[in-house]
Amino acid sequence: ENSATDPKNLRVKLVLLGDSGVGKSCIVLRFVRGQFDPTSKVTVGASFLSQTLALEDSTTVKFEIWDTAGQERYAALAPLYYRGAGAAIVVYDITSPESFNKAQYWVKELQKHGSPDMIMALVGNKADLHDNRSVSSQDAQEYAEKNNMFFIETSAKTADNINQLFEEIAKRLP
Ligand code: GTP
Ligand code: MG
Repeated sequence: ENSATDPKNLRVKLVLLGDSGVGKSCIVLRFVRGQFDPTSKVTVGASFLSQTLALEDSTTVKFEIWDTAGQERYAALAPLYYRGAGAAIVVYDITSPESFNKAQYWVKELQKHGSPDMIMALVGNKADLHDNRSVSSQDAQEYAEKNNMFFIETSAKTADNINQLFEEIAKRLP
C-alpha cells in the first residue's frame, strides 16, 4: 500500500560513445572503482562493467555499462552495443573541437538507430584542462537542448561531476 514511496531496484543498459582518447574508459573507471589511470590504454572492441548506485530515496540503479572503442576501425561495431540501450553517454574532450564534431555524429546515429526513448547525455570531459578549452560550454549546452539531451562537463582525473553524471541518468529512468 506504500508503493508510491517504496524503494525500487532499477537496471539499465548504458553505452558510452565518442572519439578515441576523450576519456570514456577513464570516466567508467572513476565511477566504478574511484580511480584514474593516466596511462589508460585504448579500448579494443568494447568492455563491460557494472556498478550499482544508491539514490537518496533508497532506490538502487544497476548500470550495465558498455564502454565502446572510439577508434574508427571499430565504428561498425557500435550498433551491437547501443541497440536496446536505455541510456547513452556521448563524450567529447573540451580541448578538442574534432571530438565535439564526432560527438554530434554519434548523436545523429543514435537518433536514427537507437531506441526513441533512450536517455542521452552529452558530456564534455577533461574539464580540468580548462586553460586549453576550445569548445564553449554554451555551444555544447545549446546543442544538447536542441537534441533533448542533458549536458554536463566532467573530469575523470579530478572526479568532478562523475557521480552527478550517473545520478542525472538515474533520475531520468522510467
Ligand atoms: P578509446 O578507448 O580509444 O575510445 O579512448 P577513451 O575515450 O576510452 O580514452 P581513455 O579513457 O583511455 O583516455 C585517454 C587519455 O585521456 C588517457 O591518457 C587519460 O589519462 C586521459 N584522460 C581521460 N580523462 C581525463 C580527464 O578528465 N582529464 C585529463 N586531463 N585527462 C584525461
Ligand atoms: Mg576506452
